[in-house]
Amino acid sequence: MNTDPTPQTLRAAMVAALREDGTIRTDRIAEVMGRVPRELFAPEAQPADAYDPELAVVTKRDEDGLPISSVSAARIQAFMLEQAGPCPGENVLEVGSGGMFAAYLAELVAPDGKVTTVDIDPEVTARARRLLDDAGYEHIRVVAADGAFGLPEHAPYDLIAVTVGAPDIPPAWREQLAPDGRIIVPLRVRGLTRSVVLVPEGDHLVSTGYELCGFVPMQGVEENRERLVLLHDAPGEEVGLRLDDGDQVNAEALHTALASPRQEAWSGVTVGGEEPIDDLDLWLATALDGHARLTATPAARDKGIVASASPLGVATLVAGGTLAYRTVRPTDETRTRFELGAYGHGPAAAAATARLVHQIQVWDKEHRGGPGARFEVHAAGTPDGELPAGRVVDKPHTRITISWPGKP
Ligand SMILES: C[S@@+](CC[C@H](N)C(=O)[O-])C[C@H]1O[C@@H](n2cnc3c(N)ncnc32)[C@H](O)[C@@H]1O
Repeated sequence: MNTDPTPQTLRAAMVAALREDGTIRTDRIAEVMGRVPRELFAPEAQPADAYDPELAVVTKRDEDGLPISSVSAARIQAFMLEQAGPCPGENVLEVGSGGMFAAYLAELVAPDGKVTTVDIDPEVTARARRLLDDAGYEHIRVVAADGAFGLPEHAPYDLIAVTVGAPDIPPAWREQLAPDGRIIVPLRVRGLTRSVVLVPEGDHLVSTGYELCGFVPMQGVEENRERLVLLHDAPGEEVGLRLDDGDQVNAEALHTALASPRQEAWSGVTVGGEEPIDDLDLWLATALDGHARLTATPAARDKGIVASASPLGVATLVAGGTLAYRTVRPTDETRTRFELGAYGHGPAAAAATARLVHQIQVWDKEHRGGPGARFEVHAAGTPDGELPAGRVVDKPHTRITISWPGKP
């Protein structure tokens, strides 16, 4: 006898889990995610995987084996639906098509709303068209085109939902947005990606919230990937710096620095083992002038070259031929709490670790548990004097600012 759980059981368990941990807060979203058959949009996966809240089902890889198309994990789709809040009657553009998210959107804007989904890859749109038709969503428009240009023929949009990692906000998205519309976008700034909700305010966009997320990178005219500069290149023991937004480093001097003795500094600020500290990283990316992310293989860590083996990288201050990166140490042998600190290498390592630790302390005192950051997106060329105080990140089309209102 087949004892595999049915899709209905899997769907109910997925929604219960996402309700339980607070990801789904809205009944309408719970109802839709509990009704639409997710397994029909991920035929490549076992049903249990399609319904695993944490699993993305990769549907296409590039020649290096890196994912370039996927059905996003249910948790990401759930919080993006919560962030976007699609309402009946709305006109929605989705950038990046997997079929699944478009189907959820169509349910939420029904009965008289419209969903158009655009993907740069004709194989992806052919797949999405087929799966949407088979599941009864013939009314969703599927278009093969570079979503960086939006789709002016169906604008204005109440909601532009971008489901691919975007390094900038192309002008078309702003131009095709209804005056009271919103854009939800996995925006990469200083090497960190956050699913940000942006709404128009005067001549610019402001954020109303954001969530930590990861997405495959954008292709086409807006393709602009992070760069990896190797500081230690022994095979299998690579250590590198991920750089974003045109940032440059002196790789040769940093290579020498990494081989020099390590300095350390500790902040007295502690975190629980399971506690998310993504806002600390966003704060450090805002506060530190020379910012990069140090990434290393487990073998490099095990050899003691660096203390972290994070593939996405840890927050790092780079100043000339010196670097200092964020690290932790357990506060006792139970290893349930950890103190935040910094390790540094190079001629100015003592000063760099002290600066990093100081910013950890500032975050703890002024921003931890507070309202978080506010992003603003201004057109490129906007004079400094018209921008809010905070970090300014220059992109090809925009000047993005990150500011921190602080705790009330
Ligand atoms: C994570 S998948 C989309 C997931 C999907 N919305 C779902 O239902 O789960 C990202 C997609 O973005 C597409 N993409 C990348 N660059 C694009 C661009 N410039 N315009 C439109 N689509 C793009 C990729 O081909 C890929 O299929």
